[in-house]
Amino acid sequence: TFQVKADQVYGEIAPTMYGIFFEDINLGADGGIYAELVKNRSFEFDTPLMGWKEQKQNNAEGTLLVHNRGELNGANRRFLRLTSKSDQGGYGVLNEGFRGMGIKKGEQYNFTVMARQQGSSAMPVVVELLTAKGEKLGAATITPTGADWKEYKASITATGTDPKALLQVVAQGKGTVDLDMISLFPKNTWKQRPNGLRADMVQLLADMKPGFLRFPGGCIVEGRTLDERFQWKKTIGEVANRATLVNRWNTEFKHRHTPDYFQTFGLGFFEYFQLAEDIGAAPLPILNCGMACQFNTGEVVPLDQLDPYIQDALDLIEFANGPATSEWGKIRAEMGHPAPFNLKYLGVGNEQWGEQYVERYKIFERALRAKYPDVKLITTTGPFPDGPEFDYLNKTMRSLNADIIDEHYYRAPEWFQENVTRYDNYDRKGPKIFAGEYASQTVAIASPDNKNNWKGALSEAAFMTGLERNADVVVMASYAPLFAHEEGWQWTPDMIWVNNLQSFGTPNYYVQKLFSTNVGTHLVPIQRNNANVTGQDKLFASASLNQKTNELILKVVNTSDKAQDGEFVLDGVKSTQSKGTVQKLRSNNLEQMNSFANPTAISPVQQTVQVKNKRVKLSLEPYSVNVIKVKVT
Ligand code: AHR
Repeated sequence: TFQVKADQVYGEIAPTMYGIFFEDINLGADGGIYAELVKNRSFEFDTPLMGWKEQKQNNAEGTLLVHNRGELNGANRRFLRLTSKSDQGGYGVLNEGFRGMGIKKGEQYNFTVMARQQGSSAMPVVVELLTAKGEKLGAATITPTGADWKEYKASITATGTDPKALLQVVAQGKGTVDLDMISLFPKNTWKQRPNGLRADMVQLLADMKPGFLRFPGGCIVEGRTLDERFQWKKTIGEVANRATLVNRWNTEFKHRHTPDYFQTFGLGFFEYFQLAEDIGAAPLPILNCGMACQFNTGEVVPLDQLDPYIQDALDLIEFANGPATSEWGKIRAEMGHPAPFNLKYLGVGNEQWGEQYVERYKIFERALRAKYPDVKLITTTGPFPDGPEFDYLNKTMRSLNADIIDEHYYRAPEWFQENVTRYDNYDRKGPKIFAGEYASQTVAIASPDNKNNWKGALSEAAFMTGLERNADVVVMASYAPLFAHEEGWQWTPDMIWVNNLQSFGTPNYYVQKLFSTNVGTHLVPIQRNNANVTGQDKLFASASLNQKTNELILKVVNTSDKAQDGEFVLDGVKSTQSKGTVQKLRSNNLEQMNSFANPTAISPVQQTVQVKNKRVKLSLEPYSVNVIKVKVT
């Protein structure tokens, strides 16, 4: 018997409770949610023609030269000079996309290019979508004219589907043309925005009704070196003027190497804020605190040279919240968003540790609190959920009266079940907790053999009942990493897997979604034998009341291999409706996973439950997560 005491509210659940961690890892942004299909569109990758191949139709002759504009600090320094030397045939280039381009029959694709004519004769350039085998899926022609750079546009409706399509750009006849920012987007991006995002991937996020969106990471905030750190100011404004940067995950990591992993920043800070707004999530940017990734070079900025980093943080708040007349607010307005983005949280550093972090955090804190006392600061505890490093940071941050402390746990499934009481005895007067990155590592941390199986997801669900029971102190939680491309990942497990045409939620995704879409406003006790349900008989539970919808929401996880009969006594309510609902997420097989072929093998099923005399009876199936909802007065 589970005793629920609906009249004994002991805390509020923050609307930010369940959110999303976004990082450009595993081709999460470029090659993932950012819908650009052309790889290395402006020839700025370290190898200027990476992703491109010369094309000669009917033995046509010509030359390809990547020119450098010779500007010292220009963001877009290079362009392609294409000279076609044959009267007949076509000469040009072929782009391979990000492991091919996902093209769908009947869909419209928008091609754009910056181009100018060299010499006296204008030359038509044919833009063609091809299958991996070279069959035509659609074509359009542009003819760059005049010596000035201009944008040319064409749209192509695909006549077939291919996840591995290619884009061919070939000049016809003799002549020379300069090309830059060669780009192809599906028309059907999220909200049909130009420079937009993959609609299927955003939809999966929107369906979670997330409380916050943390961006842009993750270790890419830090960079392998300070030069390679994420600098938000370089990711806003004209897309062509956002300098490409090597991705921190462009590295030999575990067994994977993705040497073609660069950040174009087409998905930049404006777009991150816009995404957060679109999906109803509070924006939560994390900024570099003057430290490069401690798993790499661990470079640090001397304390007396920290000013530019702090200025970036101050300016970011103005960019997000300042009036359209302010220096940075004006740029936001010019980009199409005069209203503020309502930034309330800011992370200082990603996953830093040690005294060097504390020294830098203190300087950030002083400056940020002086100008923006209402913005809550997120501080890190490094990658450790326990041990001396964690104890040092946790203690220090408490003594500094930090607002919210970010804890990361990449641990074995057993750890999650064993640590369900982690926050039961936390000091309620100190800083709040952000469970900023966590995921069950079914084999070992970031092992390429980790699986997004039911065993991992079930253990996370058990742990999350502990986060929720302590939602008066845990105000944010997010699984990490978020996305992985099946042909371009560095880290497993991940919440959502994609290829060029499809995306699916793992069982871990459905656990997250179940929790985030069924969350009350207030905490109420749920007990068995006068004790919180924290693993006795392998059962875990939390309960909340939604005072807006008058619903009692019970979450019960059975991690045992046996069905267990549950009777839920709903005390402290005047009356209940005679029927409630139960959403069940379960599998008999702890190794089971979802896949492209069977994307919802493990996904919630909803049933009706009878409520009699303020009691619900339910068989808690083996290895199951159950969310019971009952309307009450
Ligand atoms: O989520 C993958 C990585 O794990 C993040 O980039 C980093 O913050 C953590 O170590």
